[in-house]
This record gives sequence, C-alpha cells and structure tokens, in this order.
Amino acid sequence: MAPSVLAADFGRLAEQVAAVEAGGAEMLHLDVMDGHFVPNISFGVPVIKSLRKYTKCFLDAHLMIAEPKRYAEAFVNAGCDHITFHIEVTDEPQAVMEHIRGLGVSVGVSINPGTAVSAIEGILGDVDLVLVMSVWPGFGGQSFIPDVLDKVKELHARLGSHQRLQIDGGIDDKTIGPAAAAGADTFVAGTAIFGTPDPPQAMRQLHQLAVQAAKRSISNG
Ligand code: DX5
Ligand code: ZN
Repeated sequence: MAPSVLAADFGRLAEQVAAVEAGGAEMLHLDVMDGHFVPNISFGVPVIKSLRKYTKCFLDAHLMIAEPKRYAEAFVNAGCDHITFHIEVTDEPQAVMEHIRGLGVSVGVSINPGTAVSAIEGILGDVDLVLVMSVWPGFGGQSFIPDVLDKVKELHARLGSHQRLQIDGGIDDKTIGPAAAAGADTFVAGTAIFGTPDPPQAMRQLHQLAVQAAKRSISNG
C-alpha cells in the first residue's frame, strides 16, 4: 500500500503520516502537479523537504509535471527515494530515466488511461516501476476506470520479478481486488485511506483485500 497524502489534511500532514506509518505503511505516495501537464496544482519541493524530517517511509514521488528532467534533482534533494515520470511529457524517455537514475534513486514511468503499453516499449525492461493510472491524473476522489485492467494484465505478464507494477486512482475496497487479481502489486490510495475516520485501519483492510485477491487469482491459475 502506498497511501497518497493528496487526500490528507495538509494542516496536520506530519501527524496523519505518522499515523499510517505506525499502522505499517512503508511507502508514501506524493502527487506533484504543475498546472501544465495536469489541470491542477498540488505541492512541491518545500512540502516534501519538511515532510522528510517526520517520516522514515520510502517517499514515492509521482511527478505529474511537464518537465520531470528539469526538476528531478530538486525532488531527490528534498528527500524523495523514488521518482515516477509520465511518458506523455517526453520524446526522450530513455534520457529522462537515465537522468533520474543518475541521481541515485529508483525510477518509474507512468501511463495515462488513454496511453497504450506500447508507448513505454523502449524502457519497459529498464524501469524499476510502471505506474498504470486508473483515473485521469490531476485530482483525487475520482472513479476507477476498469478498462485499464487489461494493461495491468499485459504488464504483469511482461515485467520482471524485480519490477513493480503500481496502480493509482480510485482504489478502494471494491476496486483493489480486481486490480490485485490483474497483477498490480503496489496500490496507491488517497481518499479510501485519508478520507476515512481511521486511516491506518482503512489501509490495513485494503492491504488484506489485495492479498486475498492475489492469492485467489494464483490458486485459480
Ligand atoms: C491522481 C493522483 C492520485 C490520487 C489518488 O492524479 O495521481 O495519486 O491521489 O487519489 P484517490 O485514491 O482518491 O483516487
Ligand atoms: Zn499519484
């Protein structure tokens, strides 16, 4: 589980993060939006730098920004452990990937609901993570788009065991099972965790549902 702090109360961010960390969260998902690639602006380097002081969680930055290569270093210096960029923003994904890796962090590439797996063909074997967007990026609280599960299945069949397959957008107690059964192994959830009265409990419950669905799909072949 990668709780997305986008749905947290930013006035109590450190406290809310501490609660999910105490509840077992190992990864935090940080949605950075620039108002260009997506029609919304969220938070950036200063907030992440502050948050870094209050958590040991692995910081997974999801850069929904037009120029990831230009800003990646600032996010790594702020304390991010991983950076995912969007394939839709670049004609030179190999160079962006190598640049980010050269900064000493792991690298992911993300595809929007309308983007085919073939768009990331050239770097598929080399990235540490593929992020399949199950909503159009820009806002939390949207409904899961089930059509993306075909891409999750395709990627699950093609990625190596050292590569992670993340899904992001509209993950809740109804959608996490199908996503896990399709082969996703890392689940971003904002509203379904921080939008509830007991975020750590909601996170554990989602985790359990994912594990059950994954086990069922393995035993069903
Ligand atoms: C959407 C973001 C998501 C968002 C998910 O652009 O990438 O990470 O926080 O929020 P929920 O879980 O509310 O759909
Ligand atoms: Zn995200």
